[in-house]
Amino acid sequence: MEVTVIGTGYVGLVVGSCLAGAGNRVTCADVDREIVRKLNSGDVPIYEPGIEPLISENLAAGRLRFTTDPVEGIRTAEAIFVAVGTPPGEDGDADLDFVRAAAGMIGEHLRPHAVVVMKSTVPVGTSEIVRAEIARRTEAPFHMCSNPEFLKEGDAVGDFMYPDRVVCGVDTDYARSRMEELYGPFIRSANPLIFMDIASAELTKYAANAMLAARISLMNQFAELCERTGADIEHVRRGIGTDPRIGPAFLYAGTGYGGSCLPKDVQAIIRSAAEYDVDLTVLGAVNDANDRQKTVLVRKIRQRFGDDLSGLRFALWGLAFKPRTDDMRAAPSRVIVEALQERGASVVAHDPVAMDHAREFYLGDQIEYGADEYETLNGADALIVATEWLQYRRPDWTAVADRLARPIVFDGRNVFDPEHMASLGFEHYSIGRSPVGPQAAA
Ligand SMILES: NC(=O)c1ccc[n+]([C@@H]2O[C@H](COP(=O)([O-])OP(=O)(O)OC[C@H]3O[C@@H](n4cnc5c(N)ncnc54)[C@H](O)[C@@H]3O)[C@@H](O)[C@H]2O)c1
Repeated sequence: MEVTVIGTGYVGLVVGSCLAGAGNRVTCADVDREIVRKLNSGDVPIYEPGIEPLISENLAAGRLRFTTDPVEGIRTAEAIFVAVGTPPGEDGDADLDFVRAAAGMIGEHLRPHAVVVMKSTVPVGTSEIVRAEIARRTEAPFHMCSNPEFLKEGDAVGDFMYPDRVVCGVDTDYARSRMEELYGPFIRSANPLIFMDIASAELTKYAANAMLAARISLMNQFAELCERTGADIEHVRRGIGTDPRIGPAFLYAGTGYGGSCLPKDVQAIIRSAAEYDVDLTVLGAVNDANDRQKTVLVRKIRQRFGDDLSGLRFALWGLAFKPRTDDMRAAPSRVIVEALQERGASVVAHDPVAMDHAREFYLGDQIEYGADEYETLNGADALIVATEWLQYRRPDWTAVADRLARPIVFDGRNVFDPEHMASLGFEHYSIGRSPVGPQAAA
């Protein structure tokens, strides 16, 4: 099938290259010239495991191309995927400017009977807005589909290739059959292609992210209760995660959820519901709890060192909002850095893949960066772990103790065992578990 994907960020790149991998001829268009230049010169602008070979193989096979000019792609496309960003607006609602711009462009150039597929996460009713924007510009018949994306950064290629489910909101049989054709190669196992109306598909995406965010915030609040009562959140997690009604995923206490989806989608659905006079009180609390959780380590650091942190130096392991991605949108690491610096401390950080992003977009030279994780430790007053990258999980503790000025670890992802840390002579502060070590016990 001839496919055009508008927007080549984390979602558009994965969708475009996977669809090309299944034999479709795919044009990926983006307004960002630098992104397109990089992609055409074989340089992938994001870190996503498995995406590079997929892109290069499909470029070489002539099934995939990147352009800043979507017109030709739109003119020939049988399916046009809209995968542009929907960042939070000033009030937390989804900013639909990029979606509207894409709709306008599609309306000017689409071929008759094209299926316009909304991949971007958008509030209920947006596909109808897009339909109206397109219809204002063309007489050609076309079809709308809401096909929200559930991929996880870090596993995005696998998630697209082997989806748990594919949700499609359609209102014509034609759109349904085109989506079956496109997704057929990816749902050859028992996993379902779930068809529904367009509004339900739009809402499904928000409901999924709201549910995941709620689990995390609830566990983070239980973690606080564990700390006060002497219980251990890791025992509680295992105790409930084995219940098949609950399941083990998204039950990890930590420094709060971040990234490009959960924070903005929770806020957007709260705003969107309010427009329909529905007060999503539970989600308001989920959001507030998460904002507070992002400073949990800073509260522990202040308890340990006092409010004035001037002259102290902290080693920070992990900048990305989670492992296996370079995405730092709404990452807890940014809140931690800001709060420490406000109180006079300096930070030296390491991340296996996010340091270039941090330098270019978020933290610049406001912090120092270590060539490797051990270099950050030299003379630091404590180590903070903000992202649970695999390479941080079993460090050489002798080297860590030798380099740190004091053997103190703030473990924001519960990656280290408290008893083991105590036996090594470290002070160890984690989430939802009792602190260990000489000063912590005092
Ligand atoms: N990142 C994720 O993990 C994820 C997962 C599921 C759903 N989503 C949703 O998918 C959408 C895209 O997310 P993302 O993370 O890929 O965003 P992104 O910011 O990484 O990429 C969006 C791209 O769209 C481009 N763009 C904007 N306007 C354009 C236009 N008019 N024409 C062509 N290109 C245009 C931008 O230049 C950018 O490269 C969002 O709605 C997001 O909520 C994201």
